[in-house]
Amino acid sequence: GLADIGVVGLAVMGSNLARNLARNGYTVAVHNRTPGRTRELLAAHGDEGAFVACATVPDLVASLARPRTVLVMVKAGDATDAVVEELARHLEPGDIVVDGGNAHFLDTARRERDLAARGLHLVGAGISGGEEGALTGPSIMPGGSEEAYATLGPMLERISAHVDGVPCCTHIGPDGAGHYVKMVHNGIEYADMQLIAEAYDVLRQGLGLSAPEIGEVVAGWSTGDLDSYLVEITAQVLAHVDAETGRPFVDVVADAAEQKGTGRWTVQSALDLGVPVTGIAEATFARALSGSAPQRAAAREAGLAARTAGWDVPDTPEGRAAFVEDVRRALYASKVVAYSQGFDQLAAASAEHGWDIDRGACARIWRGGCIIRARFLDRITQAYERDPELELLIADPVFAAAVGDGVASWRRVVAQATLNGVPVPAFAASLAYYDGVRAASLPASLIQAQRDLFGAHTYRRTDRPGVFHTEWSGDRSETRVDA
Ligand code: 6PG
Repeated sequence: GLADIGVVGLAVMGSNLARNLARNGYTVAVHNRTPGRTRELLAAHGDEGAFVACATVPDLVASLARPRTVLVMVKAGDATDAVVEELARHLEPGDIVVDGGNAHFLDTARRERDLAARGLHLVGAGISGGEEGALTGPSIMPGGSEEAYATLGPMLERISAHVDGVPCCTHIGPDGAGHYVKMVHNGIEYADMQLIAEAYDVLRQGLGLSAPEIGEVVAGWSTGDLDSYLVEITAQVLAHVDAETGRPFVDVVADAAEQKGTGRWTVQSALDLGVPVTGIAEATFARALSGSAPQRAAAREAGLAARTAGWDVPDTPEGRAAFVEDVRRALYASKVVAYSQGFDQLAAASAEHGWDIDRGACARIWRGGCIIRARFLDRITQAYERDPELELLIADPVFAAAVGDGVASWRRVVAQATLNGVPVPAFAASLAYYDGVRAASLPASLIQAQRDLFGAHTYRRTDRPGVFHTEWSGDRSETRVDA
């Protein structure tokens, strides 16, 4: 019989998704540019299900049932363009190309327009969960047309992770919406990781705990609000000892964080939309700072002094436990703010592009399979179910109470870290955002006045409508300029 789906690109993600599809009973046509990989896949895992090895793209296309569905798992950028173009030349109207890589959403929108003009569907699908998730059930964020989803959706939902019987896959919206949501997922991932790293650093420097000791603390966090995959793997990493030196593993890993770019894209898009995603931005900049070797060397050589105040933590079991609890609460509050900001970005992008993204559904499909998976995402889904138009996640009563409970701890941790020269950019930015967004008034009034003085940029008044300008260099009279 004909194959149900084709997979092009058999590096680890492509191979594992092909195996996942085959294990779920689909007949999977597989193709890789260098045929060795196709042979390896079949030799190692050919018995897991029905595979059809295809030497060429035309062979692959010929082996598929209609409408043909092909999942492309190659490097984002030129490689994706080349493969999509070659497929498009052999496919027929109504066929579907799924790009499962981390493409930029604007590239996806361009490719979709291009294929649509030829009667083909392009679906940009964000796929999260790394190697393991690809094989056993990832979180899948497909964009593209309703029509394409009608064919493709059931397959993707079947191979995705499931939580409480619900698939971690849903149709996100047209064109680049799926890749956009995956991009913001990655931005949130950066923020979450940075926040955990700051909590670790504060415990280390504030209490003098070793990595394995902090690993035990973090493992304990898995039973509460912070229960998540990232917290779980953090505990594992902190417990790990380097075989060569016998030292804690994190102590031998170079402290320069890398990135492949999705966090940076998230911040770039947020800047374009004017959405303050300070948690994600600080996390992205913190990676950049860690990798700024010449600047860090120059600062060390200049002996930039910390002039610290000393940790105000009573050296008793109770005092230390209370500080650990402060850090846990600060972490949760900061995390909620970072997610709230990410969901604001989704709302803004959705409005800008007319995608109609359901934020509650995004949180639901992130509960399993992906890197930020966590029980806590249930609460986000529930918040958007209570109010689908919710303007601010931390204004939802449940989150407002949760963040409110942690505020005193949050302030103590940021203050203590700051007094002692431990950088907590994501903790501090999240707290500053919280204080900014809840403030009755902001000093933006002064900014507006300054702008009017030096550039006649005009301002509004608090006491009556209209747009005004003051004659700063003349008699300081005010004129209404919008009437
Ligand atoms: C996933 C991950 C995966 C990868 C990111 C971040 O959801 O499976 O998000 O896509 O971890 O690309 O990678 P960098 O940290 O290298 O940017």
